[in-house]
Amino acid sequence: MGLYTSVMEEISFYTGLSPAAFFTILAMMVVVYRTVSGMFVSPEDYNKPPVVSARANSRLDESEPPREPVQLGEITDRELRAYDGSDPSKPLLMAIKGQIYDVSNGRNFYGPGGPYAMFAGKECSRALALLSFKPDDINGNLEGLGEEELTILEDWEFKFIEKYPKVGQLIAEQRTRQNEFKEQTQDNLDNPNECKEEEK
Ligand code: HEM
Repeated sequence: MGLYTSVMEEISFYTGLSPAAFFTILAMMVVVYRTVSGMFVSPEDYNKPPVVSARANSRLDESEPPREPVQLGEITDRELRAYDGSDPSKPLLMAIKGQIYDVSNGRNFYGPGGPYAMFAGKECSRALALLSFKPDDINGNLEGLGEEELTILEDWEFKFIEKYPKVGQLIAEQRTRQNEFKEQTQDNLDNPNECKEEEK
């Protein structure tokens, strides 16, 4: 009891404050310190990836090493749809002006539950140019866009070129059908007997 009283007296003597005021100010200083220091990143955490919300990150396995982007070459709009994040084993892709980007590193934006998930697996030029989320605008049709909108689209394109690896180009469905047809015709020419047998 004697120690308690003498500590309180010392506090009043050295600070000129009542013990209650002293402890209130001390508590406020701790709160302010914790709040302010929480606003800064400690040097050890500086190189760590940003923490994304559990919802947006639900499909990300921390132990999974980052995947190397796979070059896909030419694929169609329809084939691109398979890369919308619904299959976690596939990369997340998105196309701008016919160029396909691997946006897997932006999974918190484009992955399932992300704010821009509607763009994954799609050609998004029109939507980005118009700053629109309308499903009808999520395509590569640039018809009727003004100069300002095309500049906006170009800014997006630069952002994507800087941030994400390019992994392929979009081609029209028709062209692949033609290619398939050509391949089939060539195959039939190379193996005329097989072709006749099939006809029988
Ligand atoms: C209320 C309006 C909007 C707000 C407050 C907003 C906010 C943001 C923020 C904070 C980011 C993260 C930026 C970064 O860390 O690099 C972002 C990214 C993005 N925003 Fe928006 N946004 C808005 C509207 C739009 C619209 C209209 C579009 C297009 C239709 C759009 C498309 C995107 C895309 C594609 C990204 C991801 C870019 C990347 O992959 O780095 N946003 N937005």
